[in-house]
Amino acid sequence: MVEDIAMPLSITSTVPLNSGEAMPLFGLGTFRMPTGAATEGAVHRALTLGYRLLDTASAYGNEAEVGRAIAGSGLDRGTIFLTTKAWVDEQGYDETRAACRRSLAALRTPYVDLYLLHWPAPGRWPEAWRALLTLQESGLCRAIGVSNFAIHHLEALREISVVPPAVNQVEFNPFRYDRDLLAYCRDHDIRLEAYTPLTRGARFTHPVLKRLAAAHGKTPAQTLIRWGLQHGVIEIPKATSDAHLRENAHVFDFALTDDDMSTLDALDEQYTVVNPEWRAKFA
Ligand SMILES: NC(=O)c1ccc[n+]([C@@H]2O[C@H](COP(=O)([O-])OP(=O)(O)OC[C@H]3O[C@@H](n4cnc5c(N)ncnc54)[C@H](OP(=O)(O)O)[C@@H]3O)[C@@H](O)[C@H]2O)c1
Repeated sequence: MVEDIAMPLSITSTVPLNSGEAMPLFGLGTFRMPTGAATEGAVHRALTLGYRLLDTASAYGNEAEVGRAIAGSGLDRGTIFLTTKAWVDEQGYDETRAACRRSLAALRTPYVDLYLLHWPAPGRWPEAWRALLTLQESGLCRAIGVSNFAIHHLEALREISVVPPAVNQVEFNPFRYDRDLLAYCRDHDIRLEAYTPLTRGARFTHPVLKRLAAAHGKTPAQTLIRWGLQHGVIEIPKATSDAHLRENAHVFDFALTDDDMSTLDALDEQYTVVNPEWRAKFA
């Protein structure tokens, strides 16, 4: 829903969630950040550069580093939007409630802004969702949502819960442009959040992307991020180096035209970084 985002876009732009919170449209992913000082340093650097959305997960093994970076940033906790996720084996009513408390302890925070079911664990996610409702009720999670949910999962969730997920975090970029899922989420007031917005660099040399990026004096990474933002999708590119962190945040001084957007939309090839056997387990 681009319509309900104030223009022009900036690093402080937020989108309203159906739960009432305002979520930054742009932030930092932390998957595969090396544990230890490097991760803490990258997150700290990102906060210094103005990033206010941080995406982690218990499965990334770096919640402690993310928590230390937040604590050391000197920023008021309320100005940072923090997301973490319940892994597959942490799903189930008791399991998810316990997992959330473990994550909060590792992150050294009394609450997370958004807690997601990382994948729809077969037979387990419905009870895990019920746990999320109670965690939200008790204030440990401000907003709750899902990740890697297909339309049929979201439909099944509708059957068991009057509370919809605030966010669905999925693999999403021009090379994996799932229009149907984006439209479904729009229609049901669920925010789409893009993971792997940069294709992990796998499509940076695509000639169409390179041409468009050059026409705007931008890099392929910046062009990919801007494409997602202009679709109203929350973007969380992961970057470790100072150069990448800066580059990715410099996407608010240009705009793709409608023609550029259509050209990028047409690059869809259902590209994925996810192992097909793994994805099939959650189909
Ligand atoms: N829910 C899920 O199942 C799920 C799955 C995957 C990811 N995620 C989340 O989404 C976030 C983003 O996805 P991702 O990390 O898989 O992939 P990504 O953001 O598409 O790509 C990250 C890779 O691109 C590099 N990079 C970053 N900025 C760059 C730039 N300007 N120029 C060149 N290379 C650049 C990074 O290198 P450096 O680190 O060296 O800078 C890193 O190798 C994750 O970190 C995680 O928080 C969620």
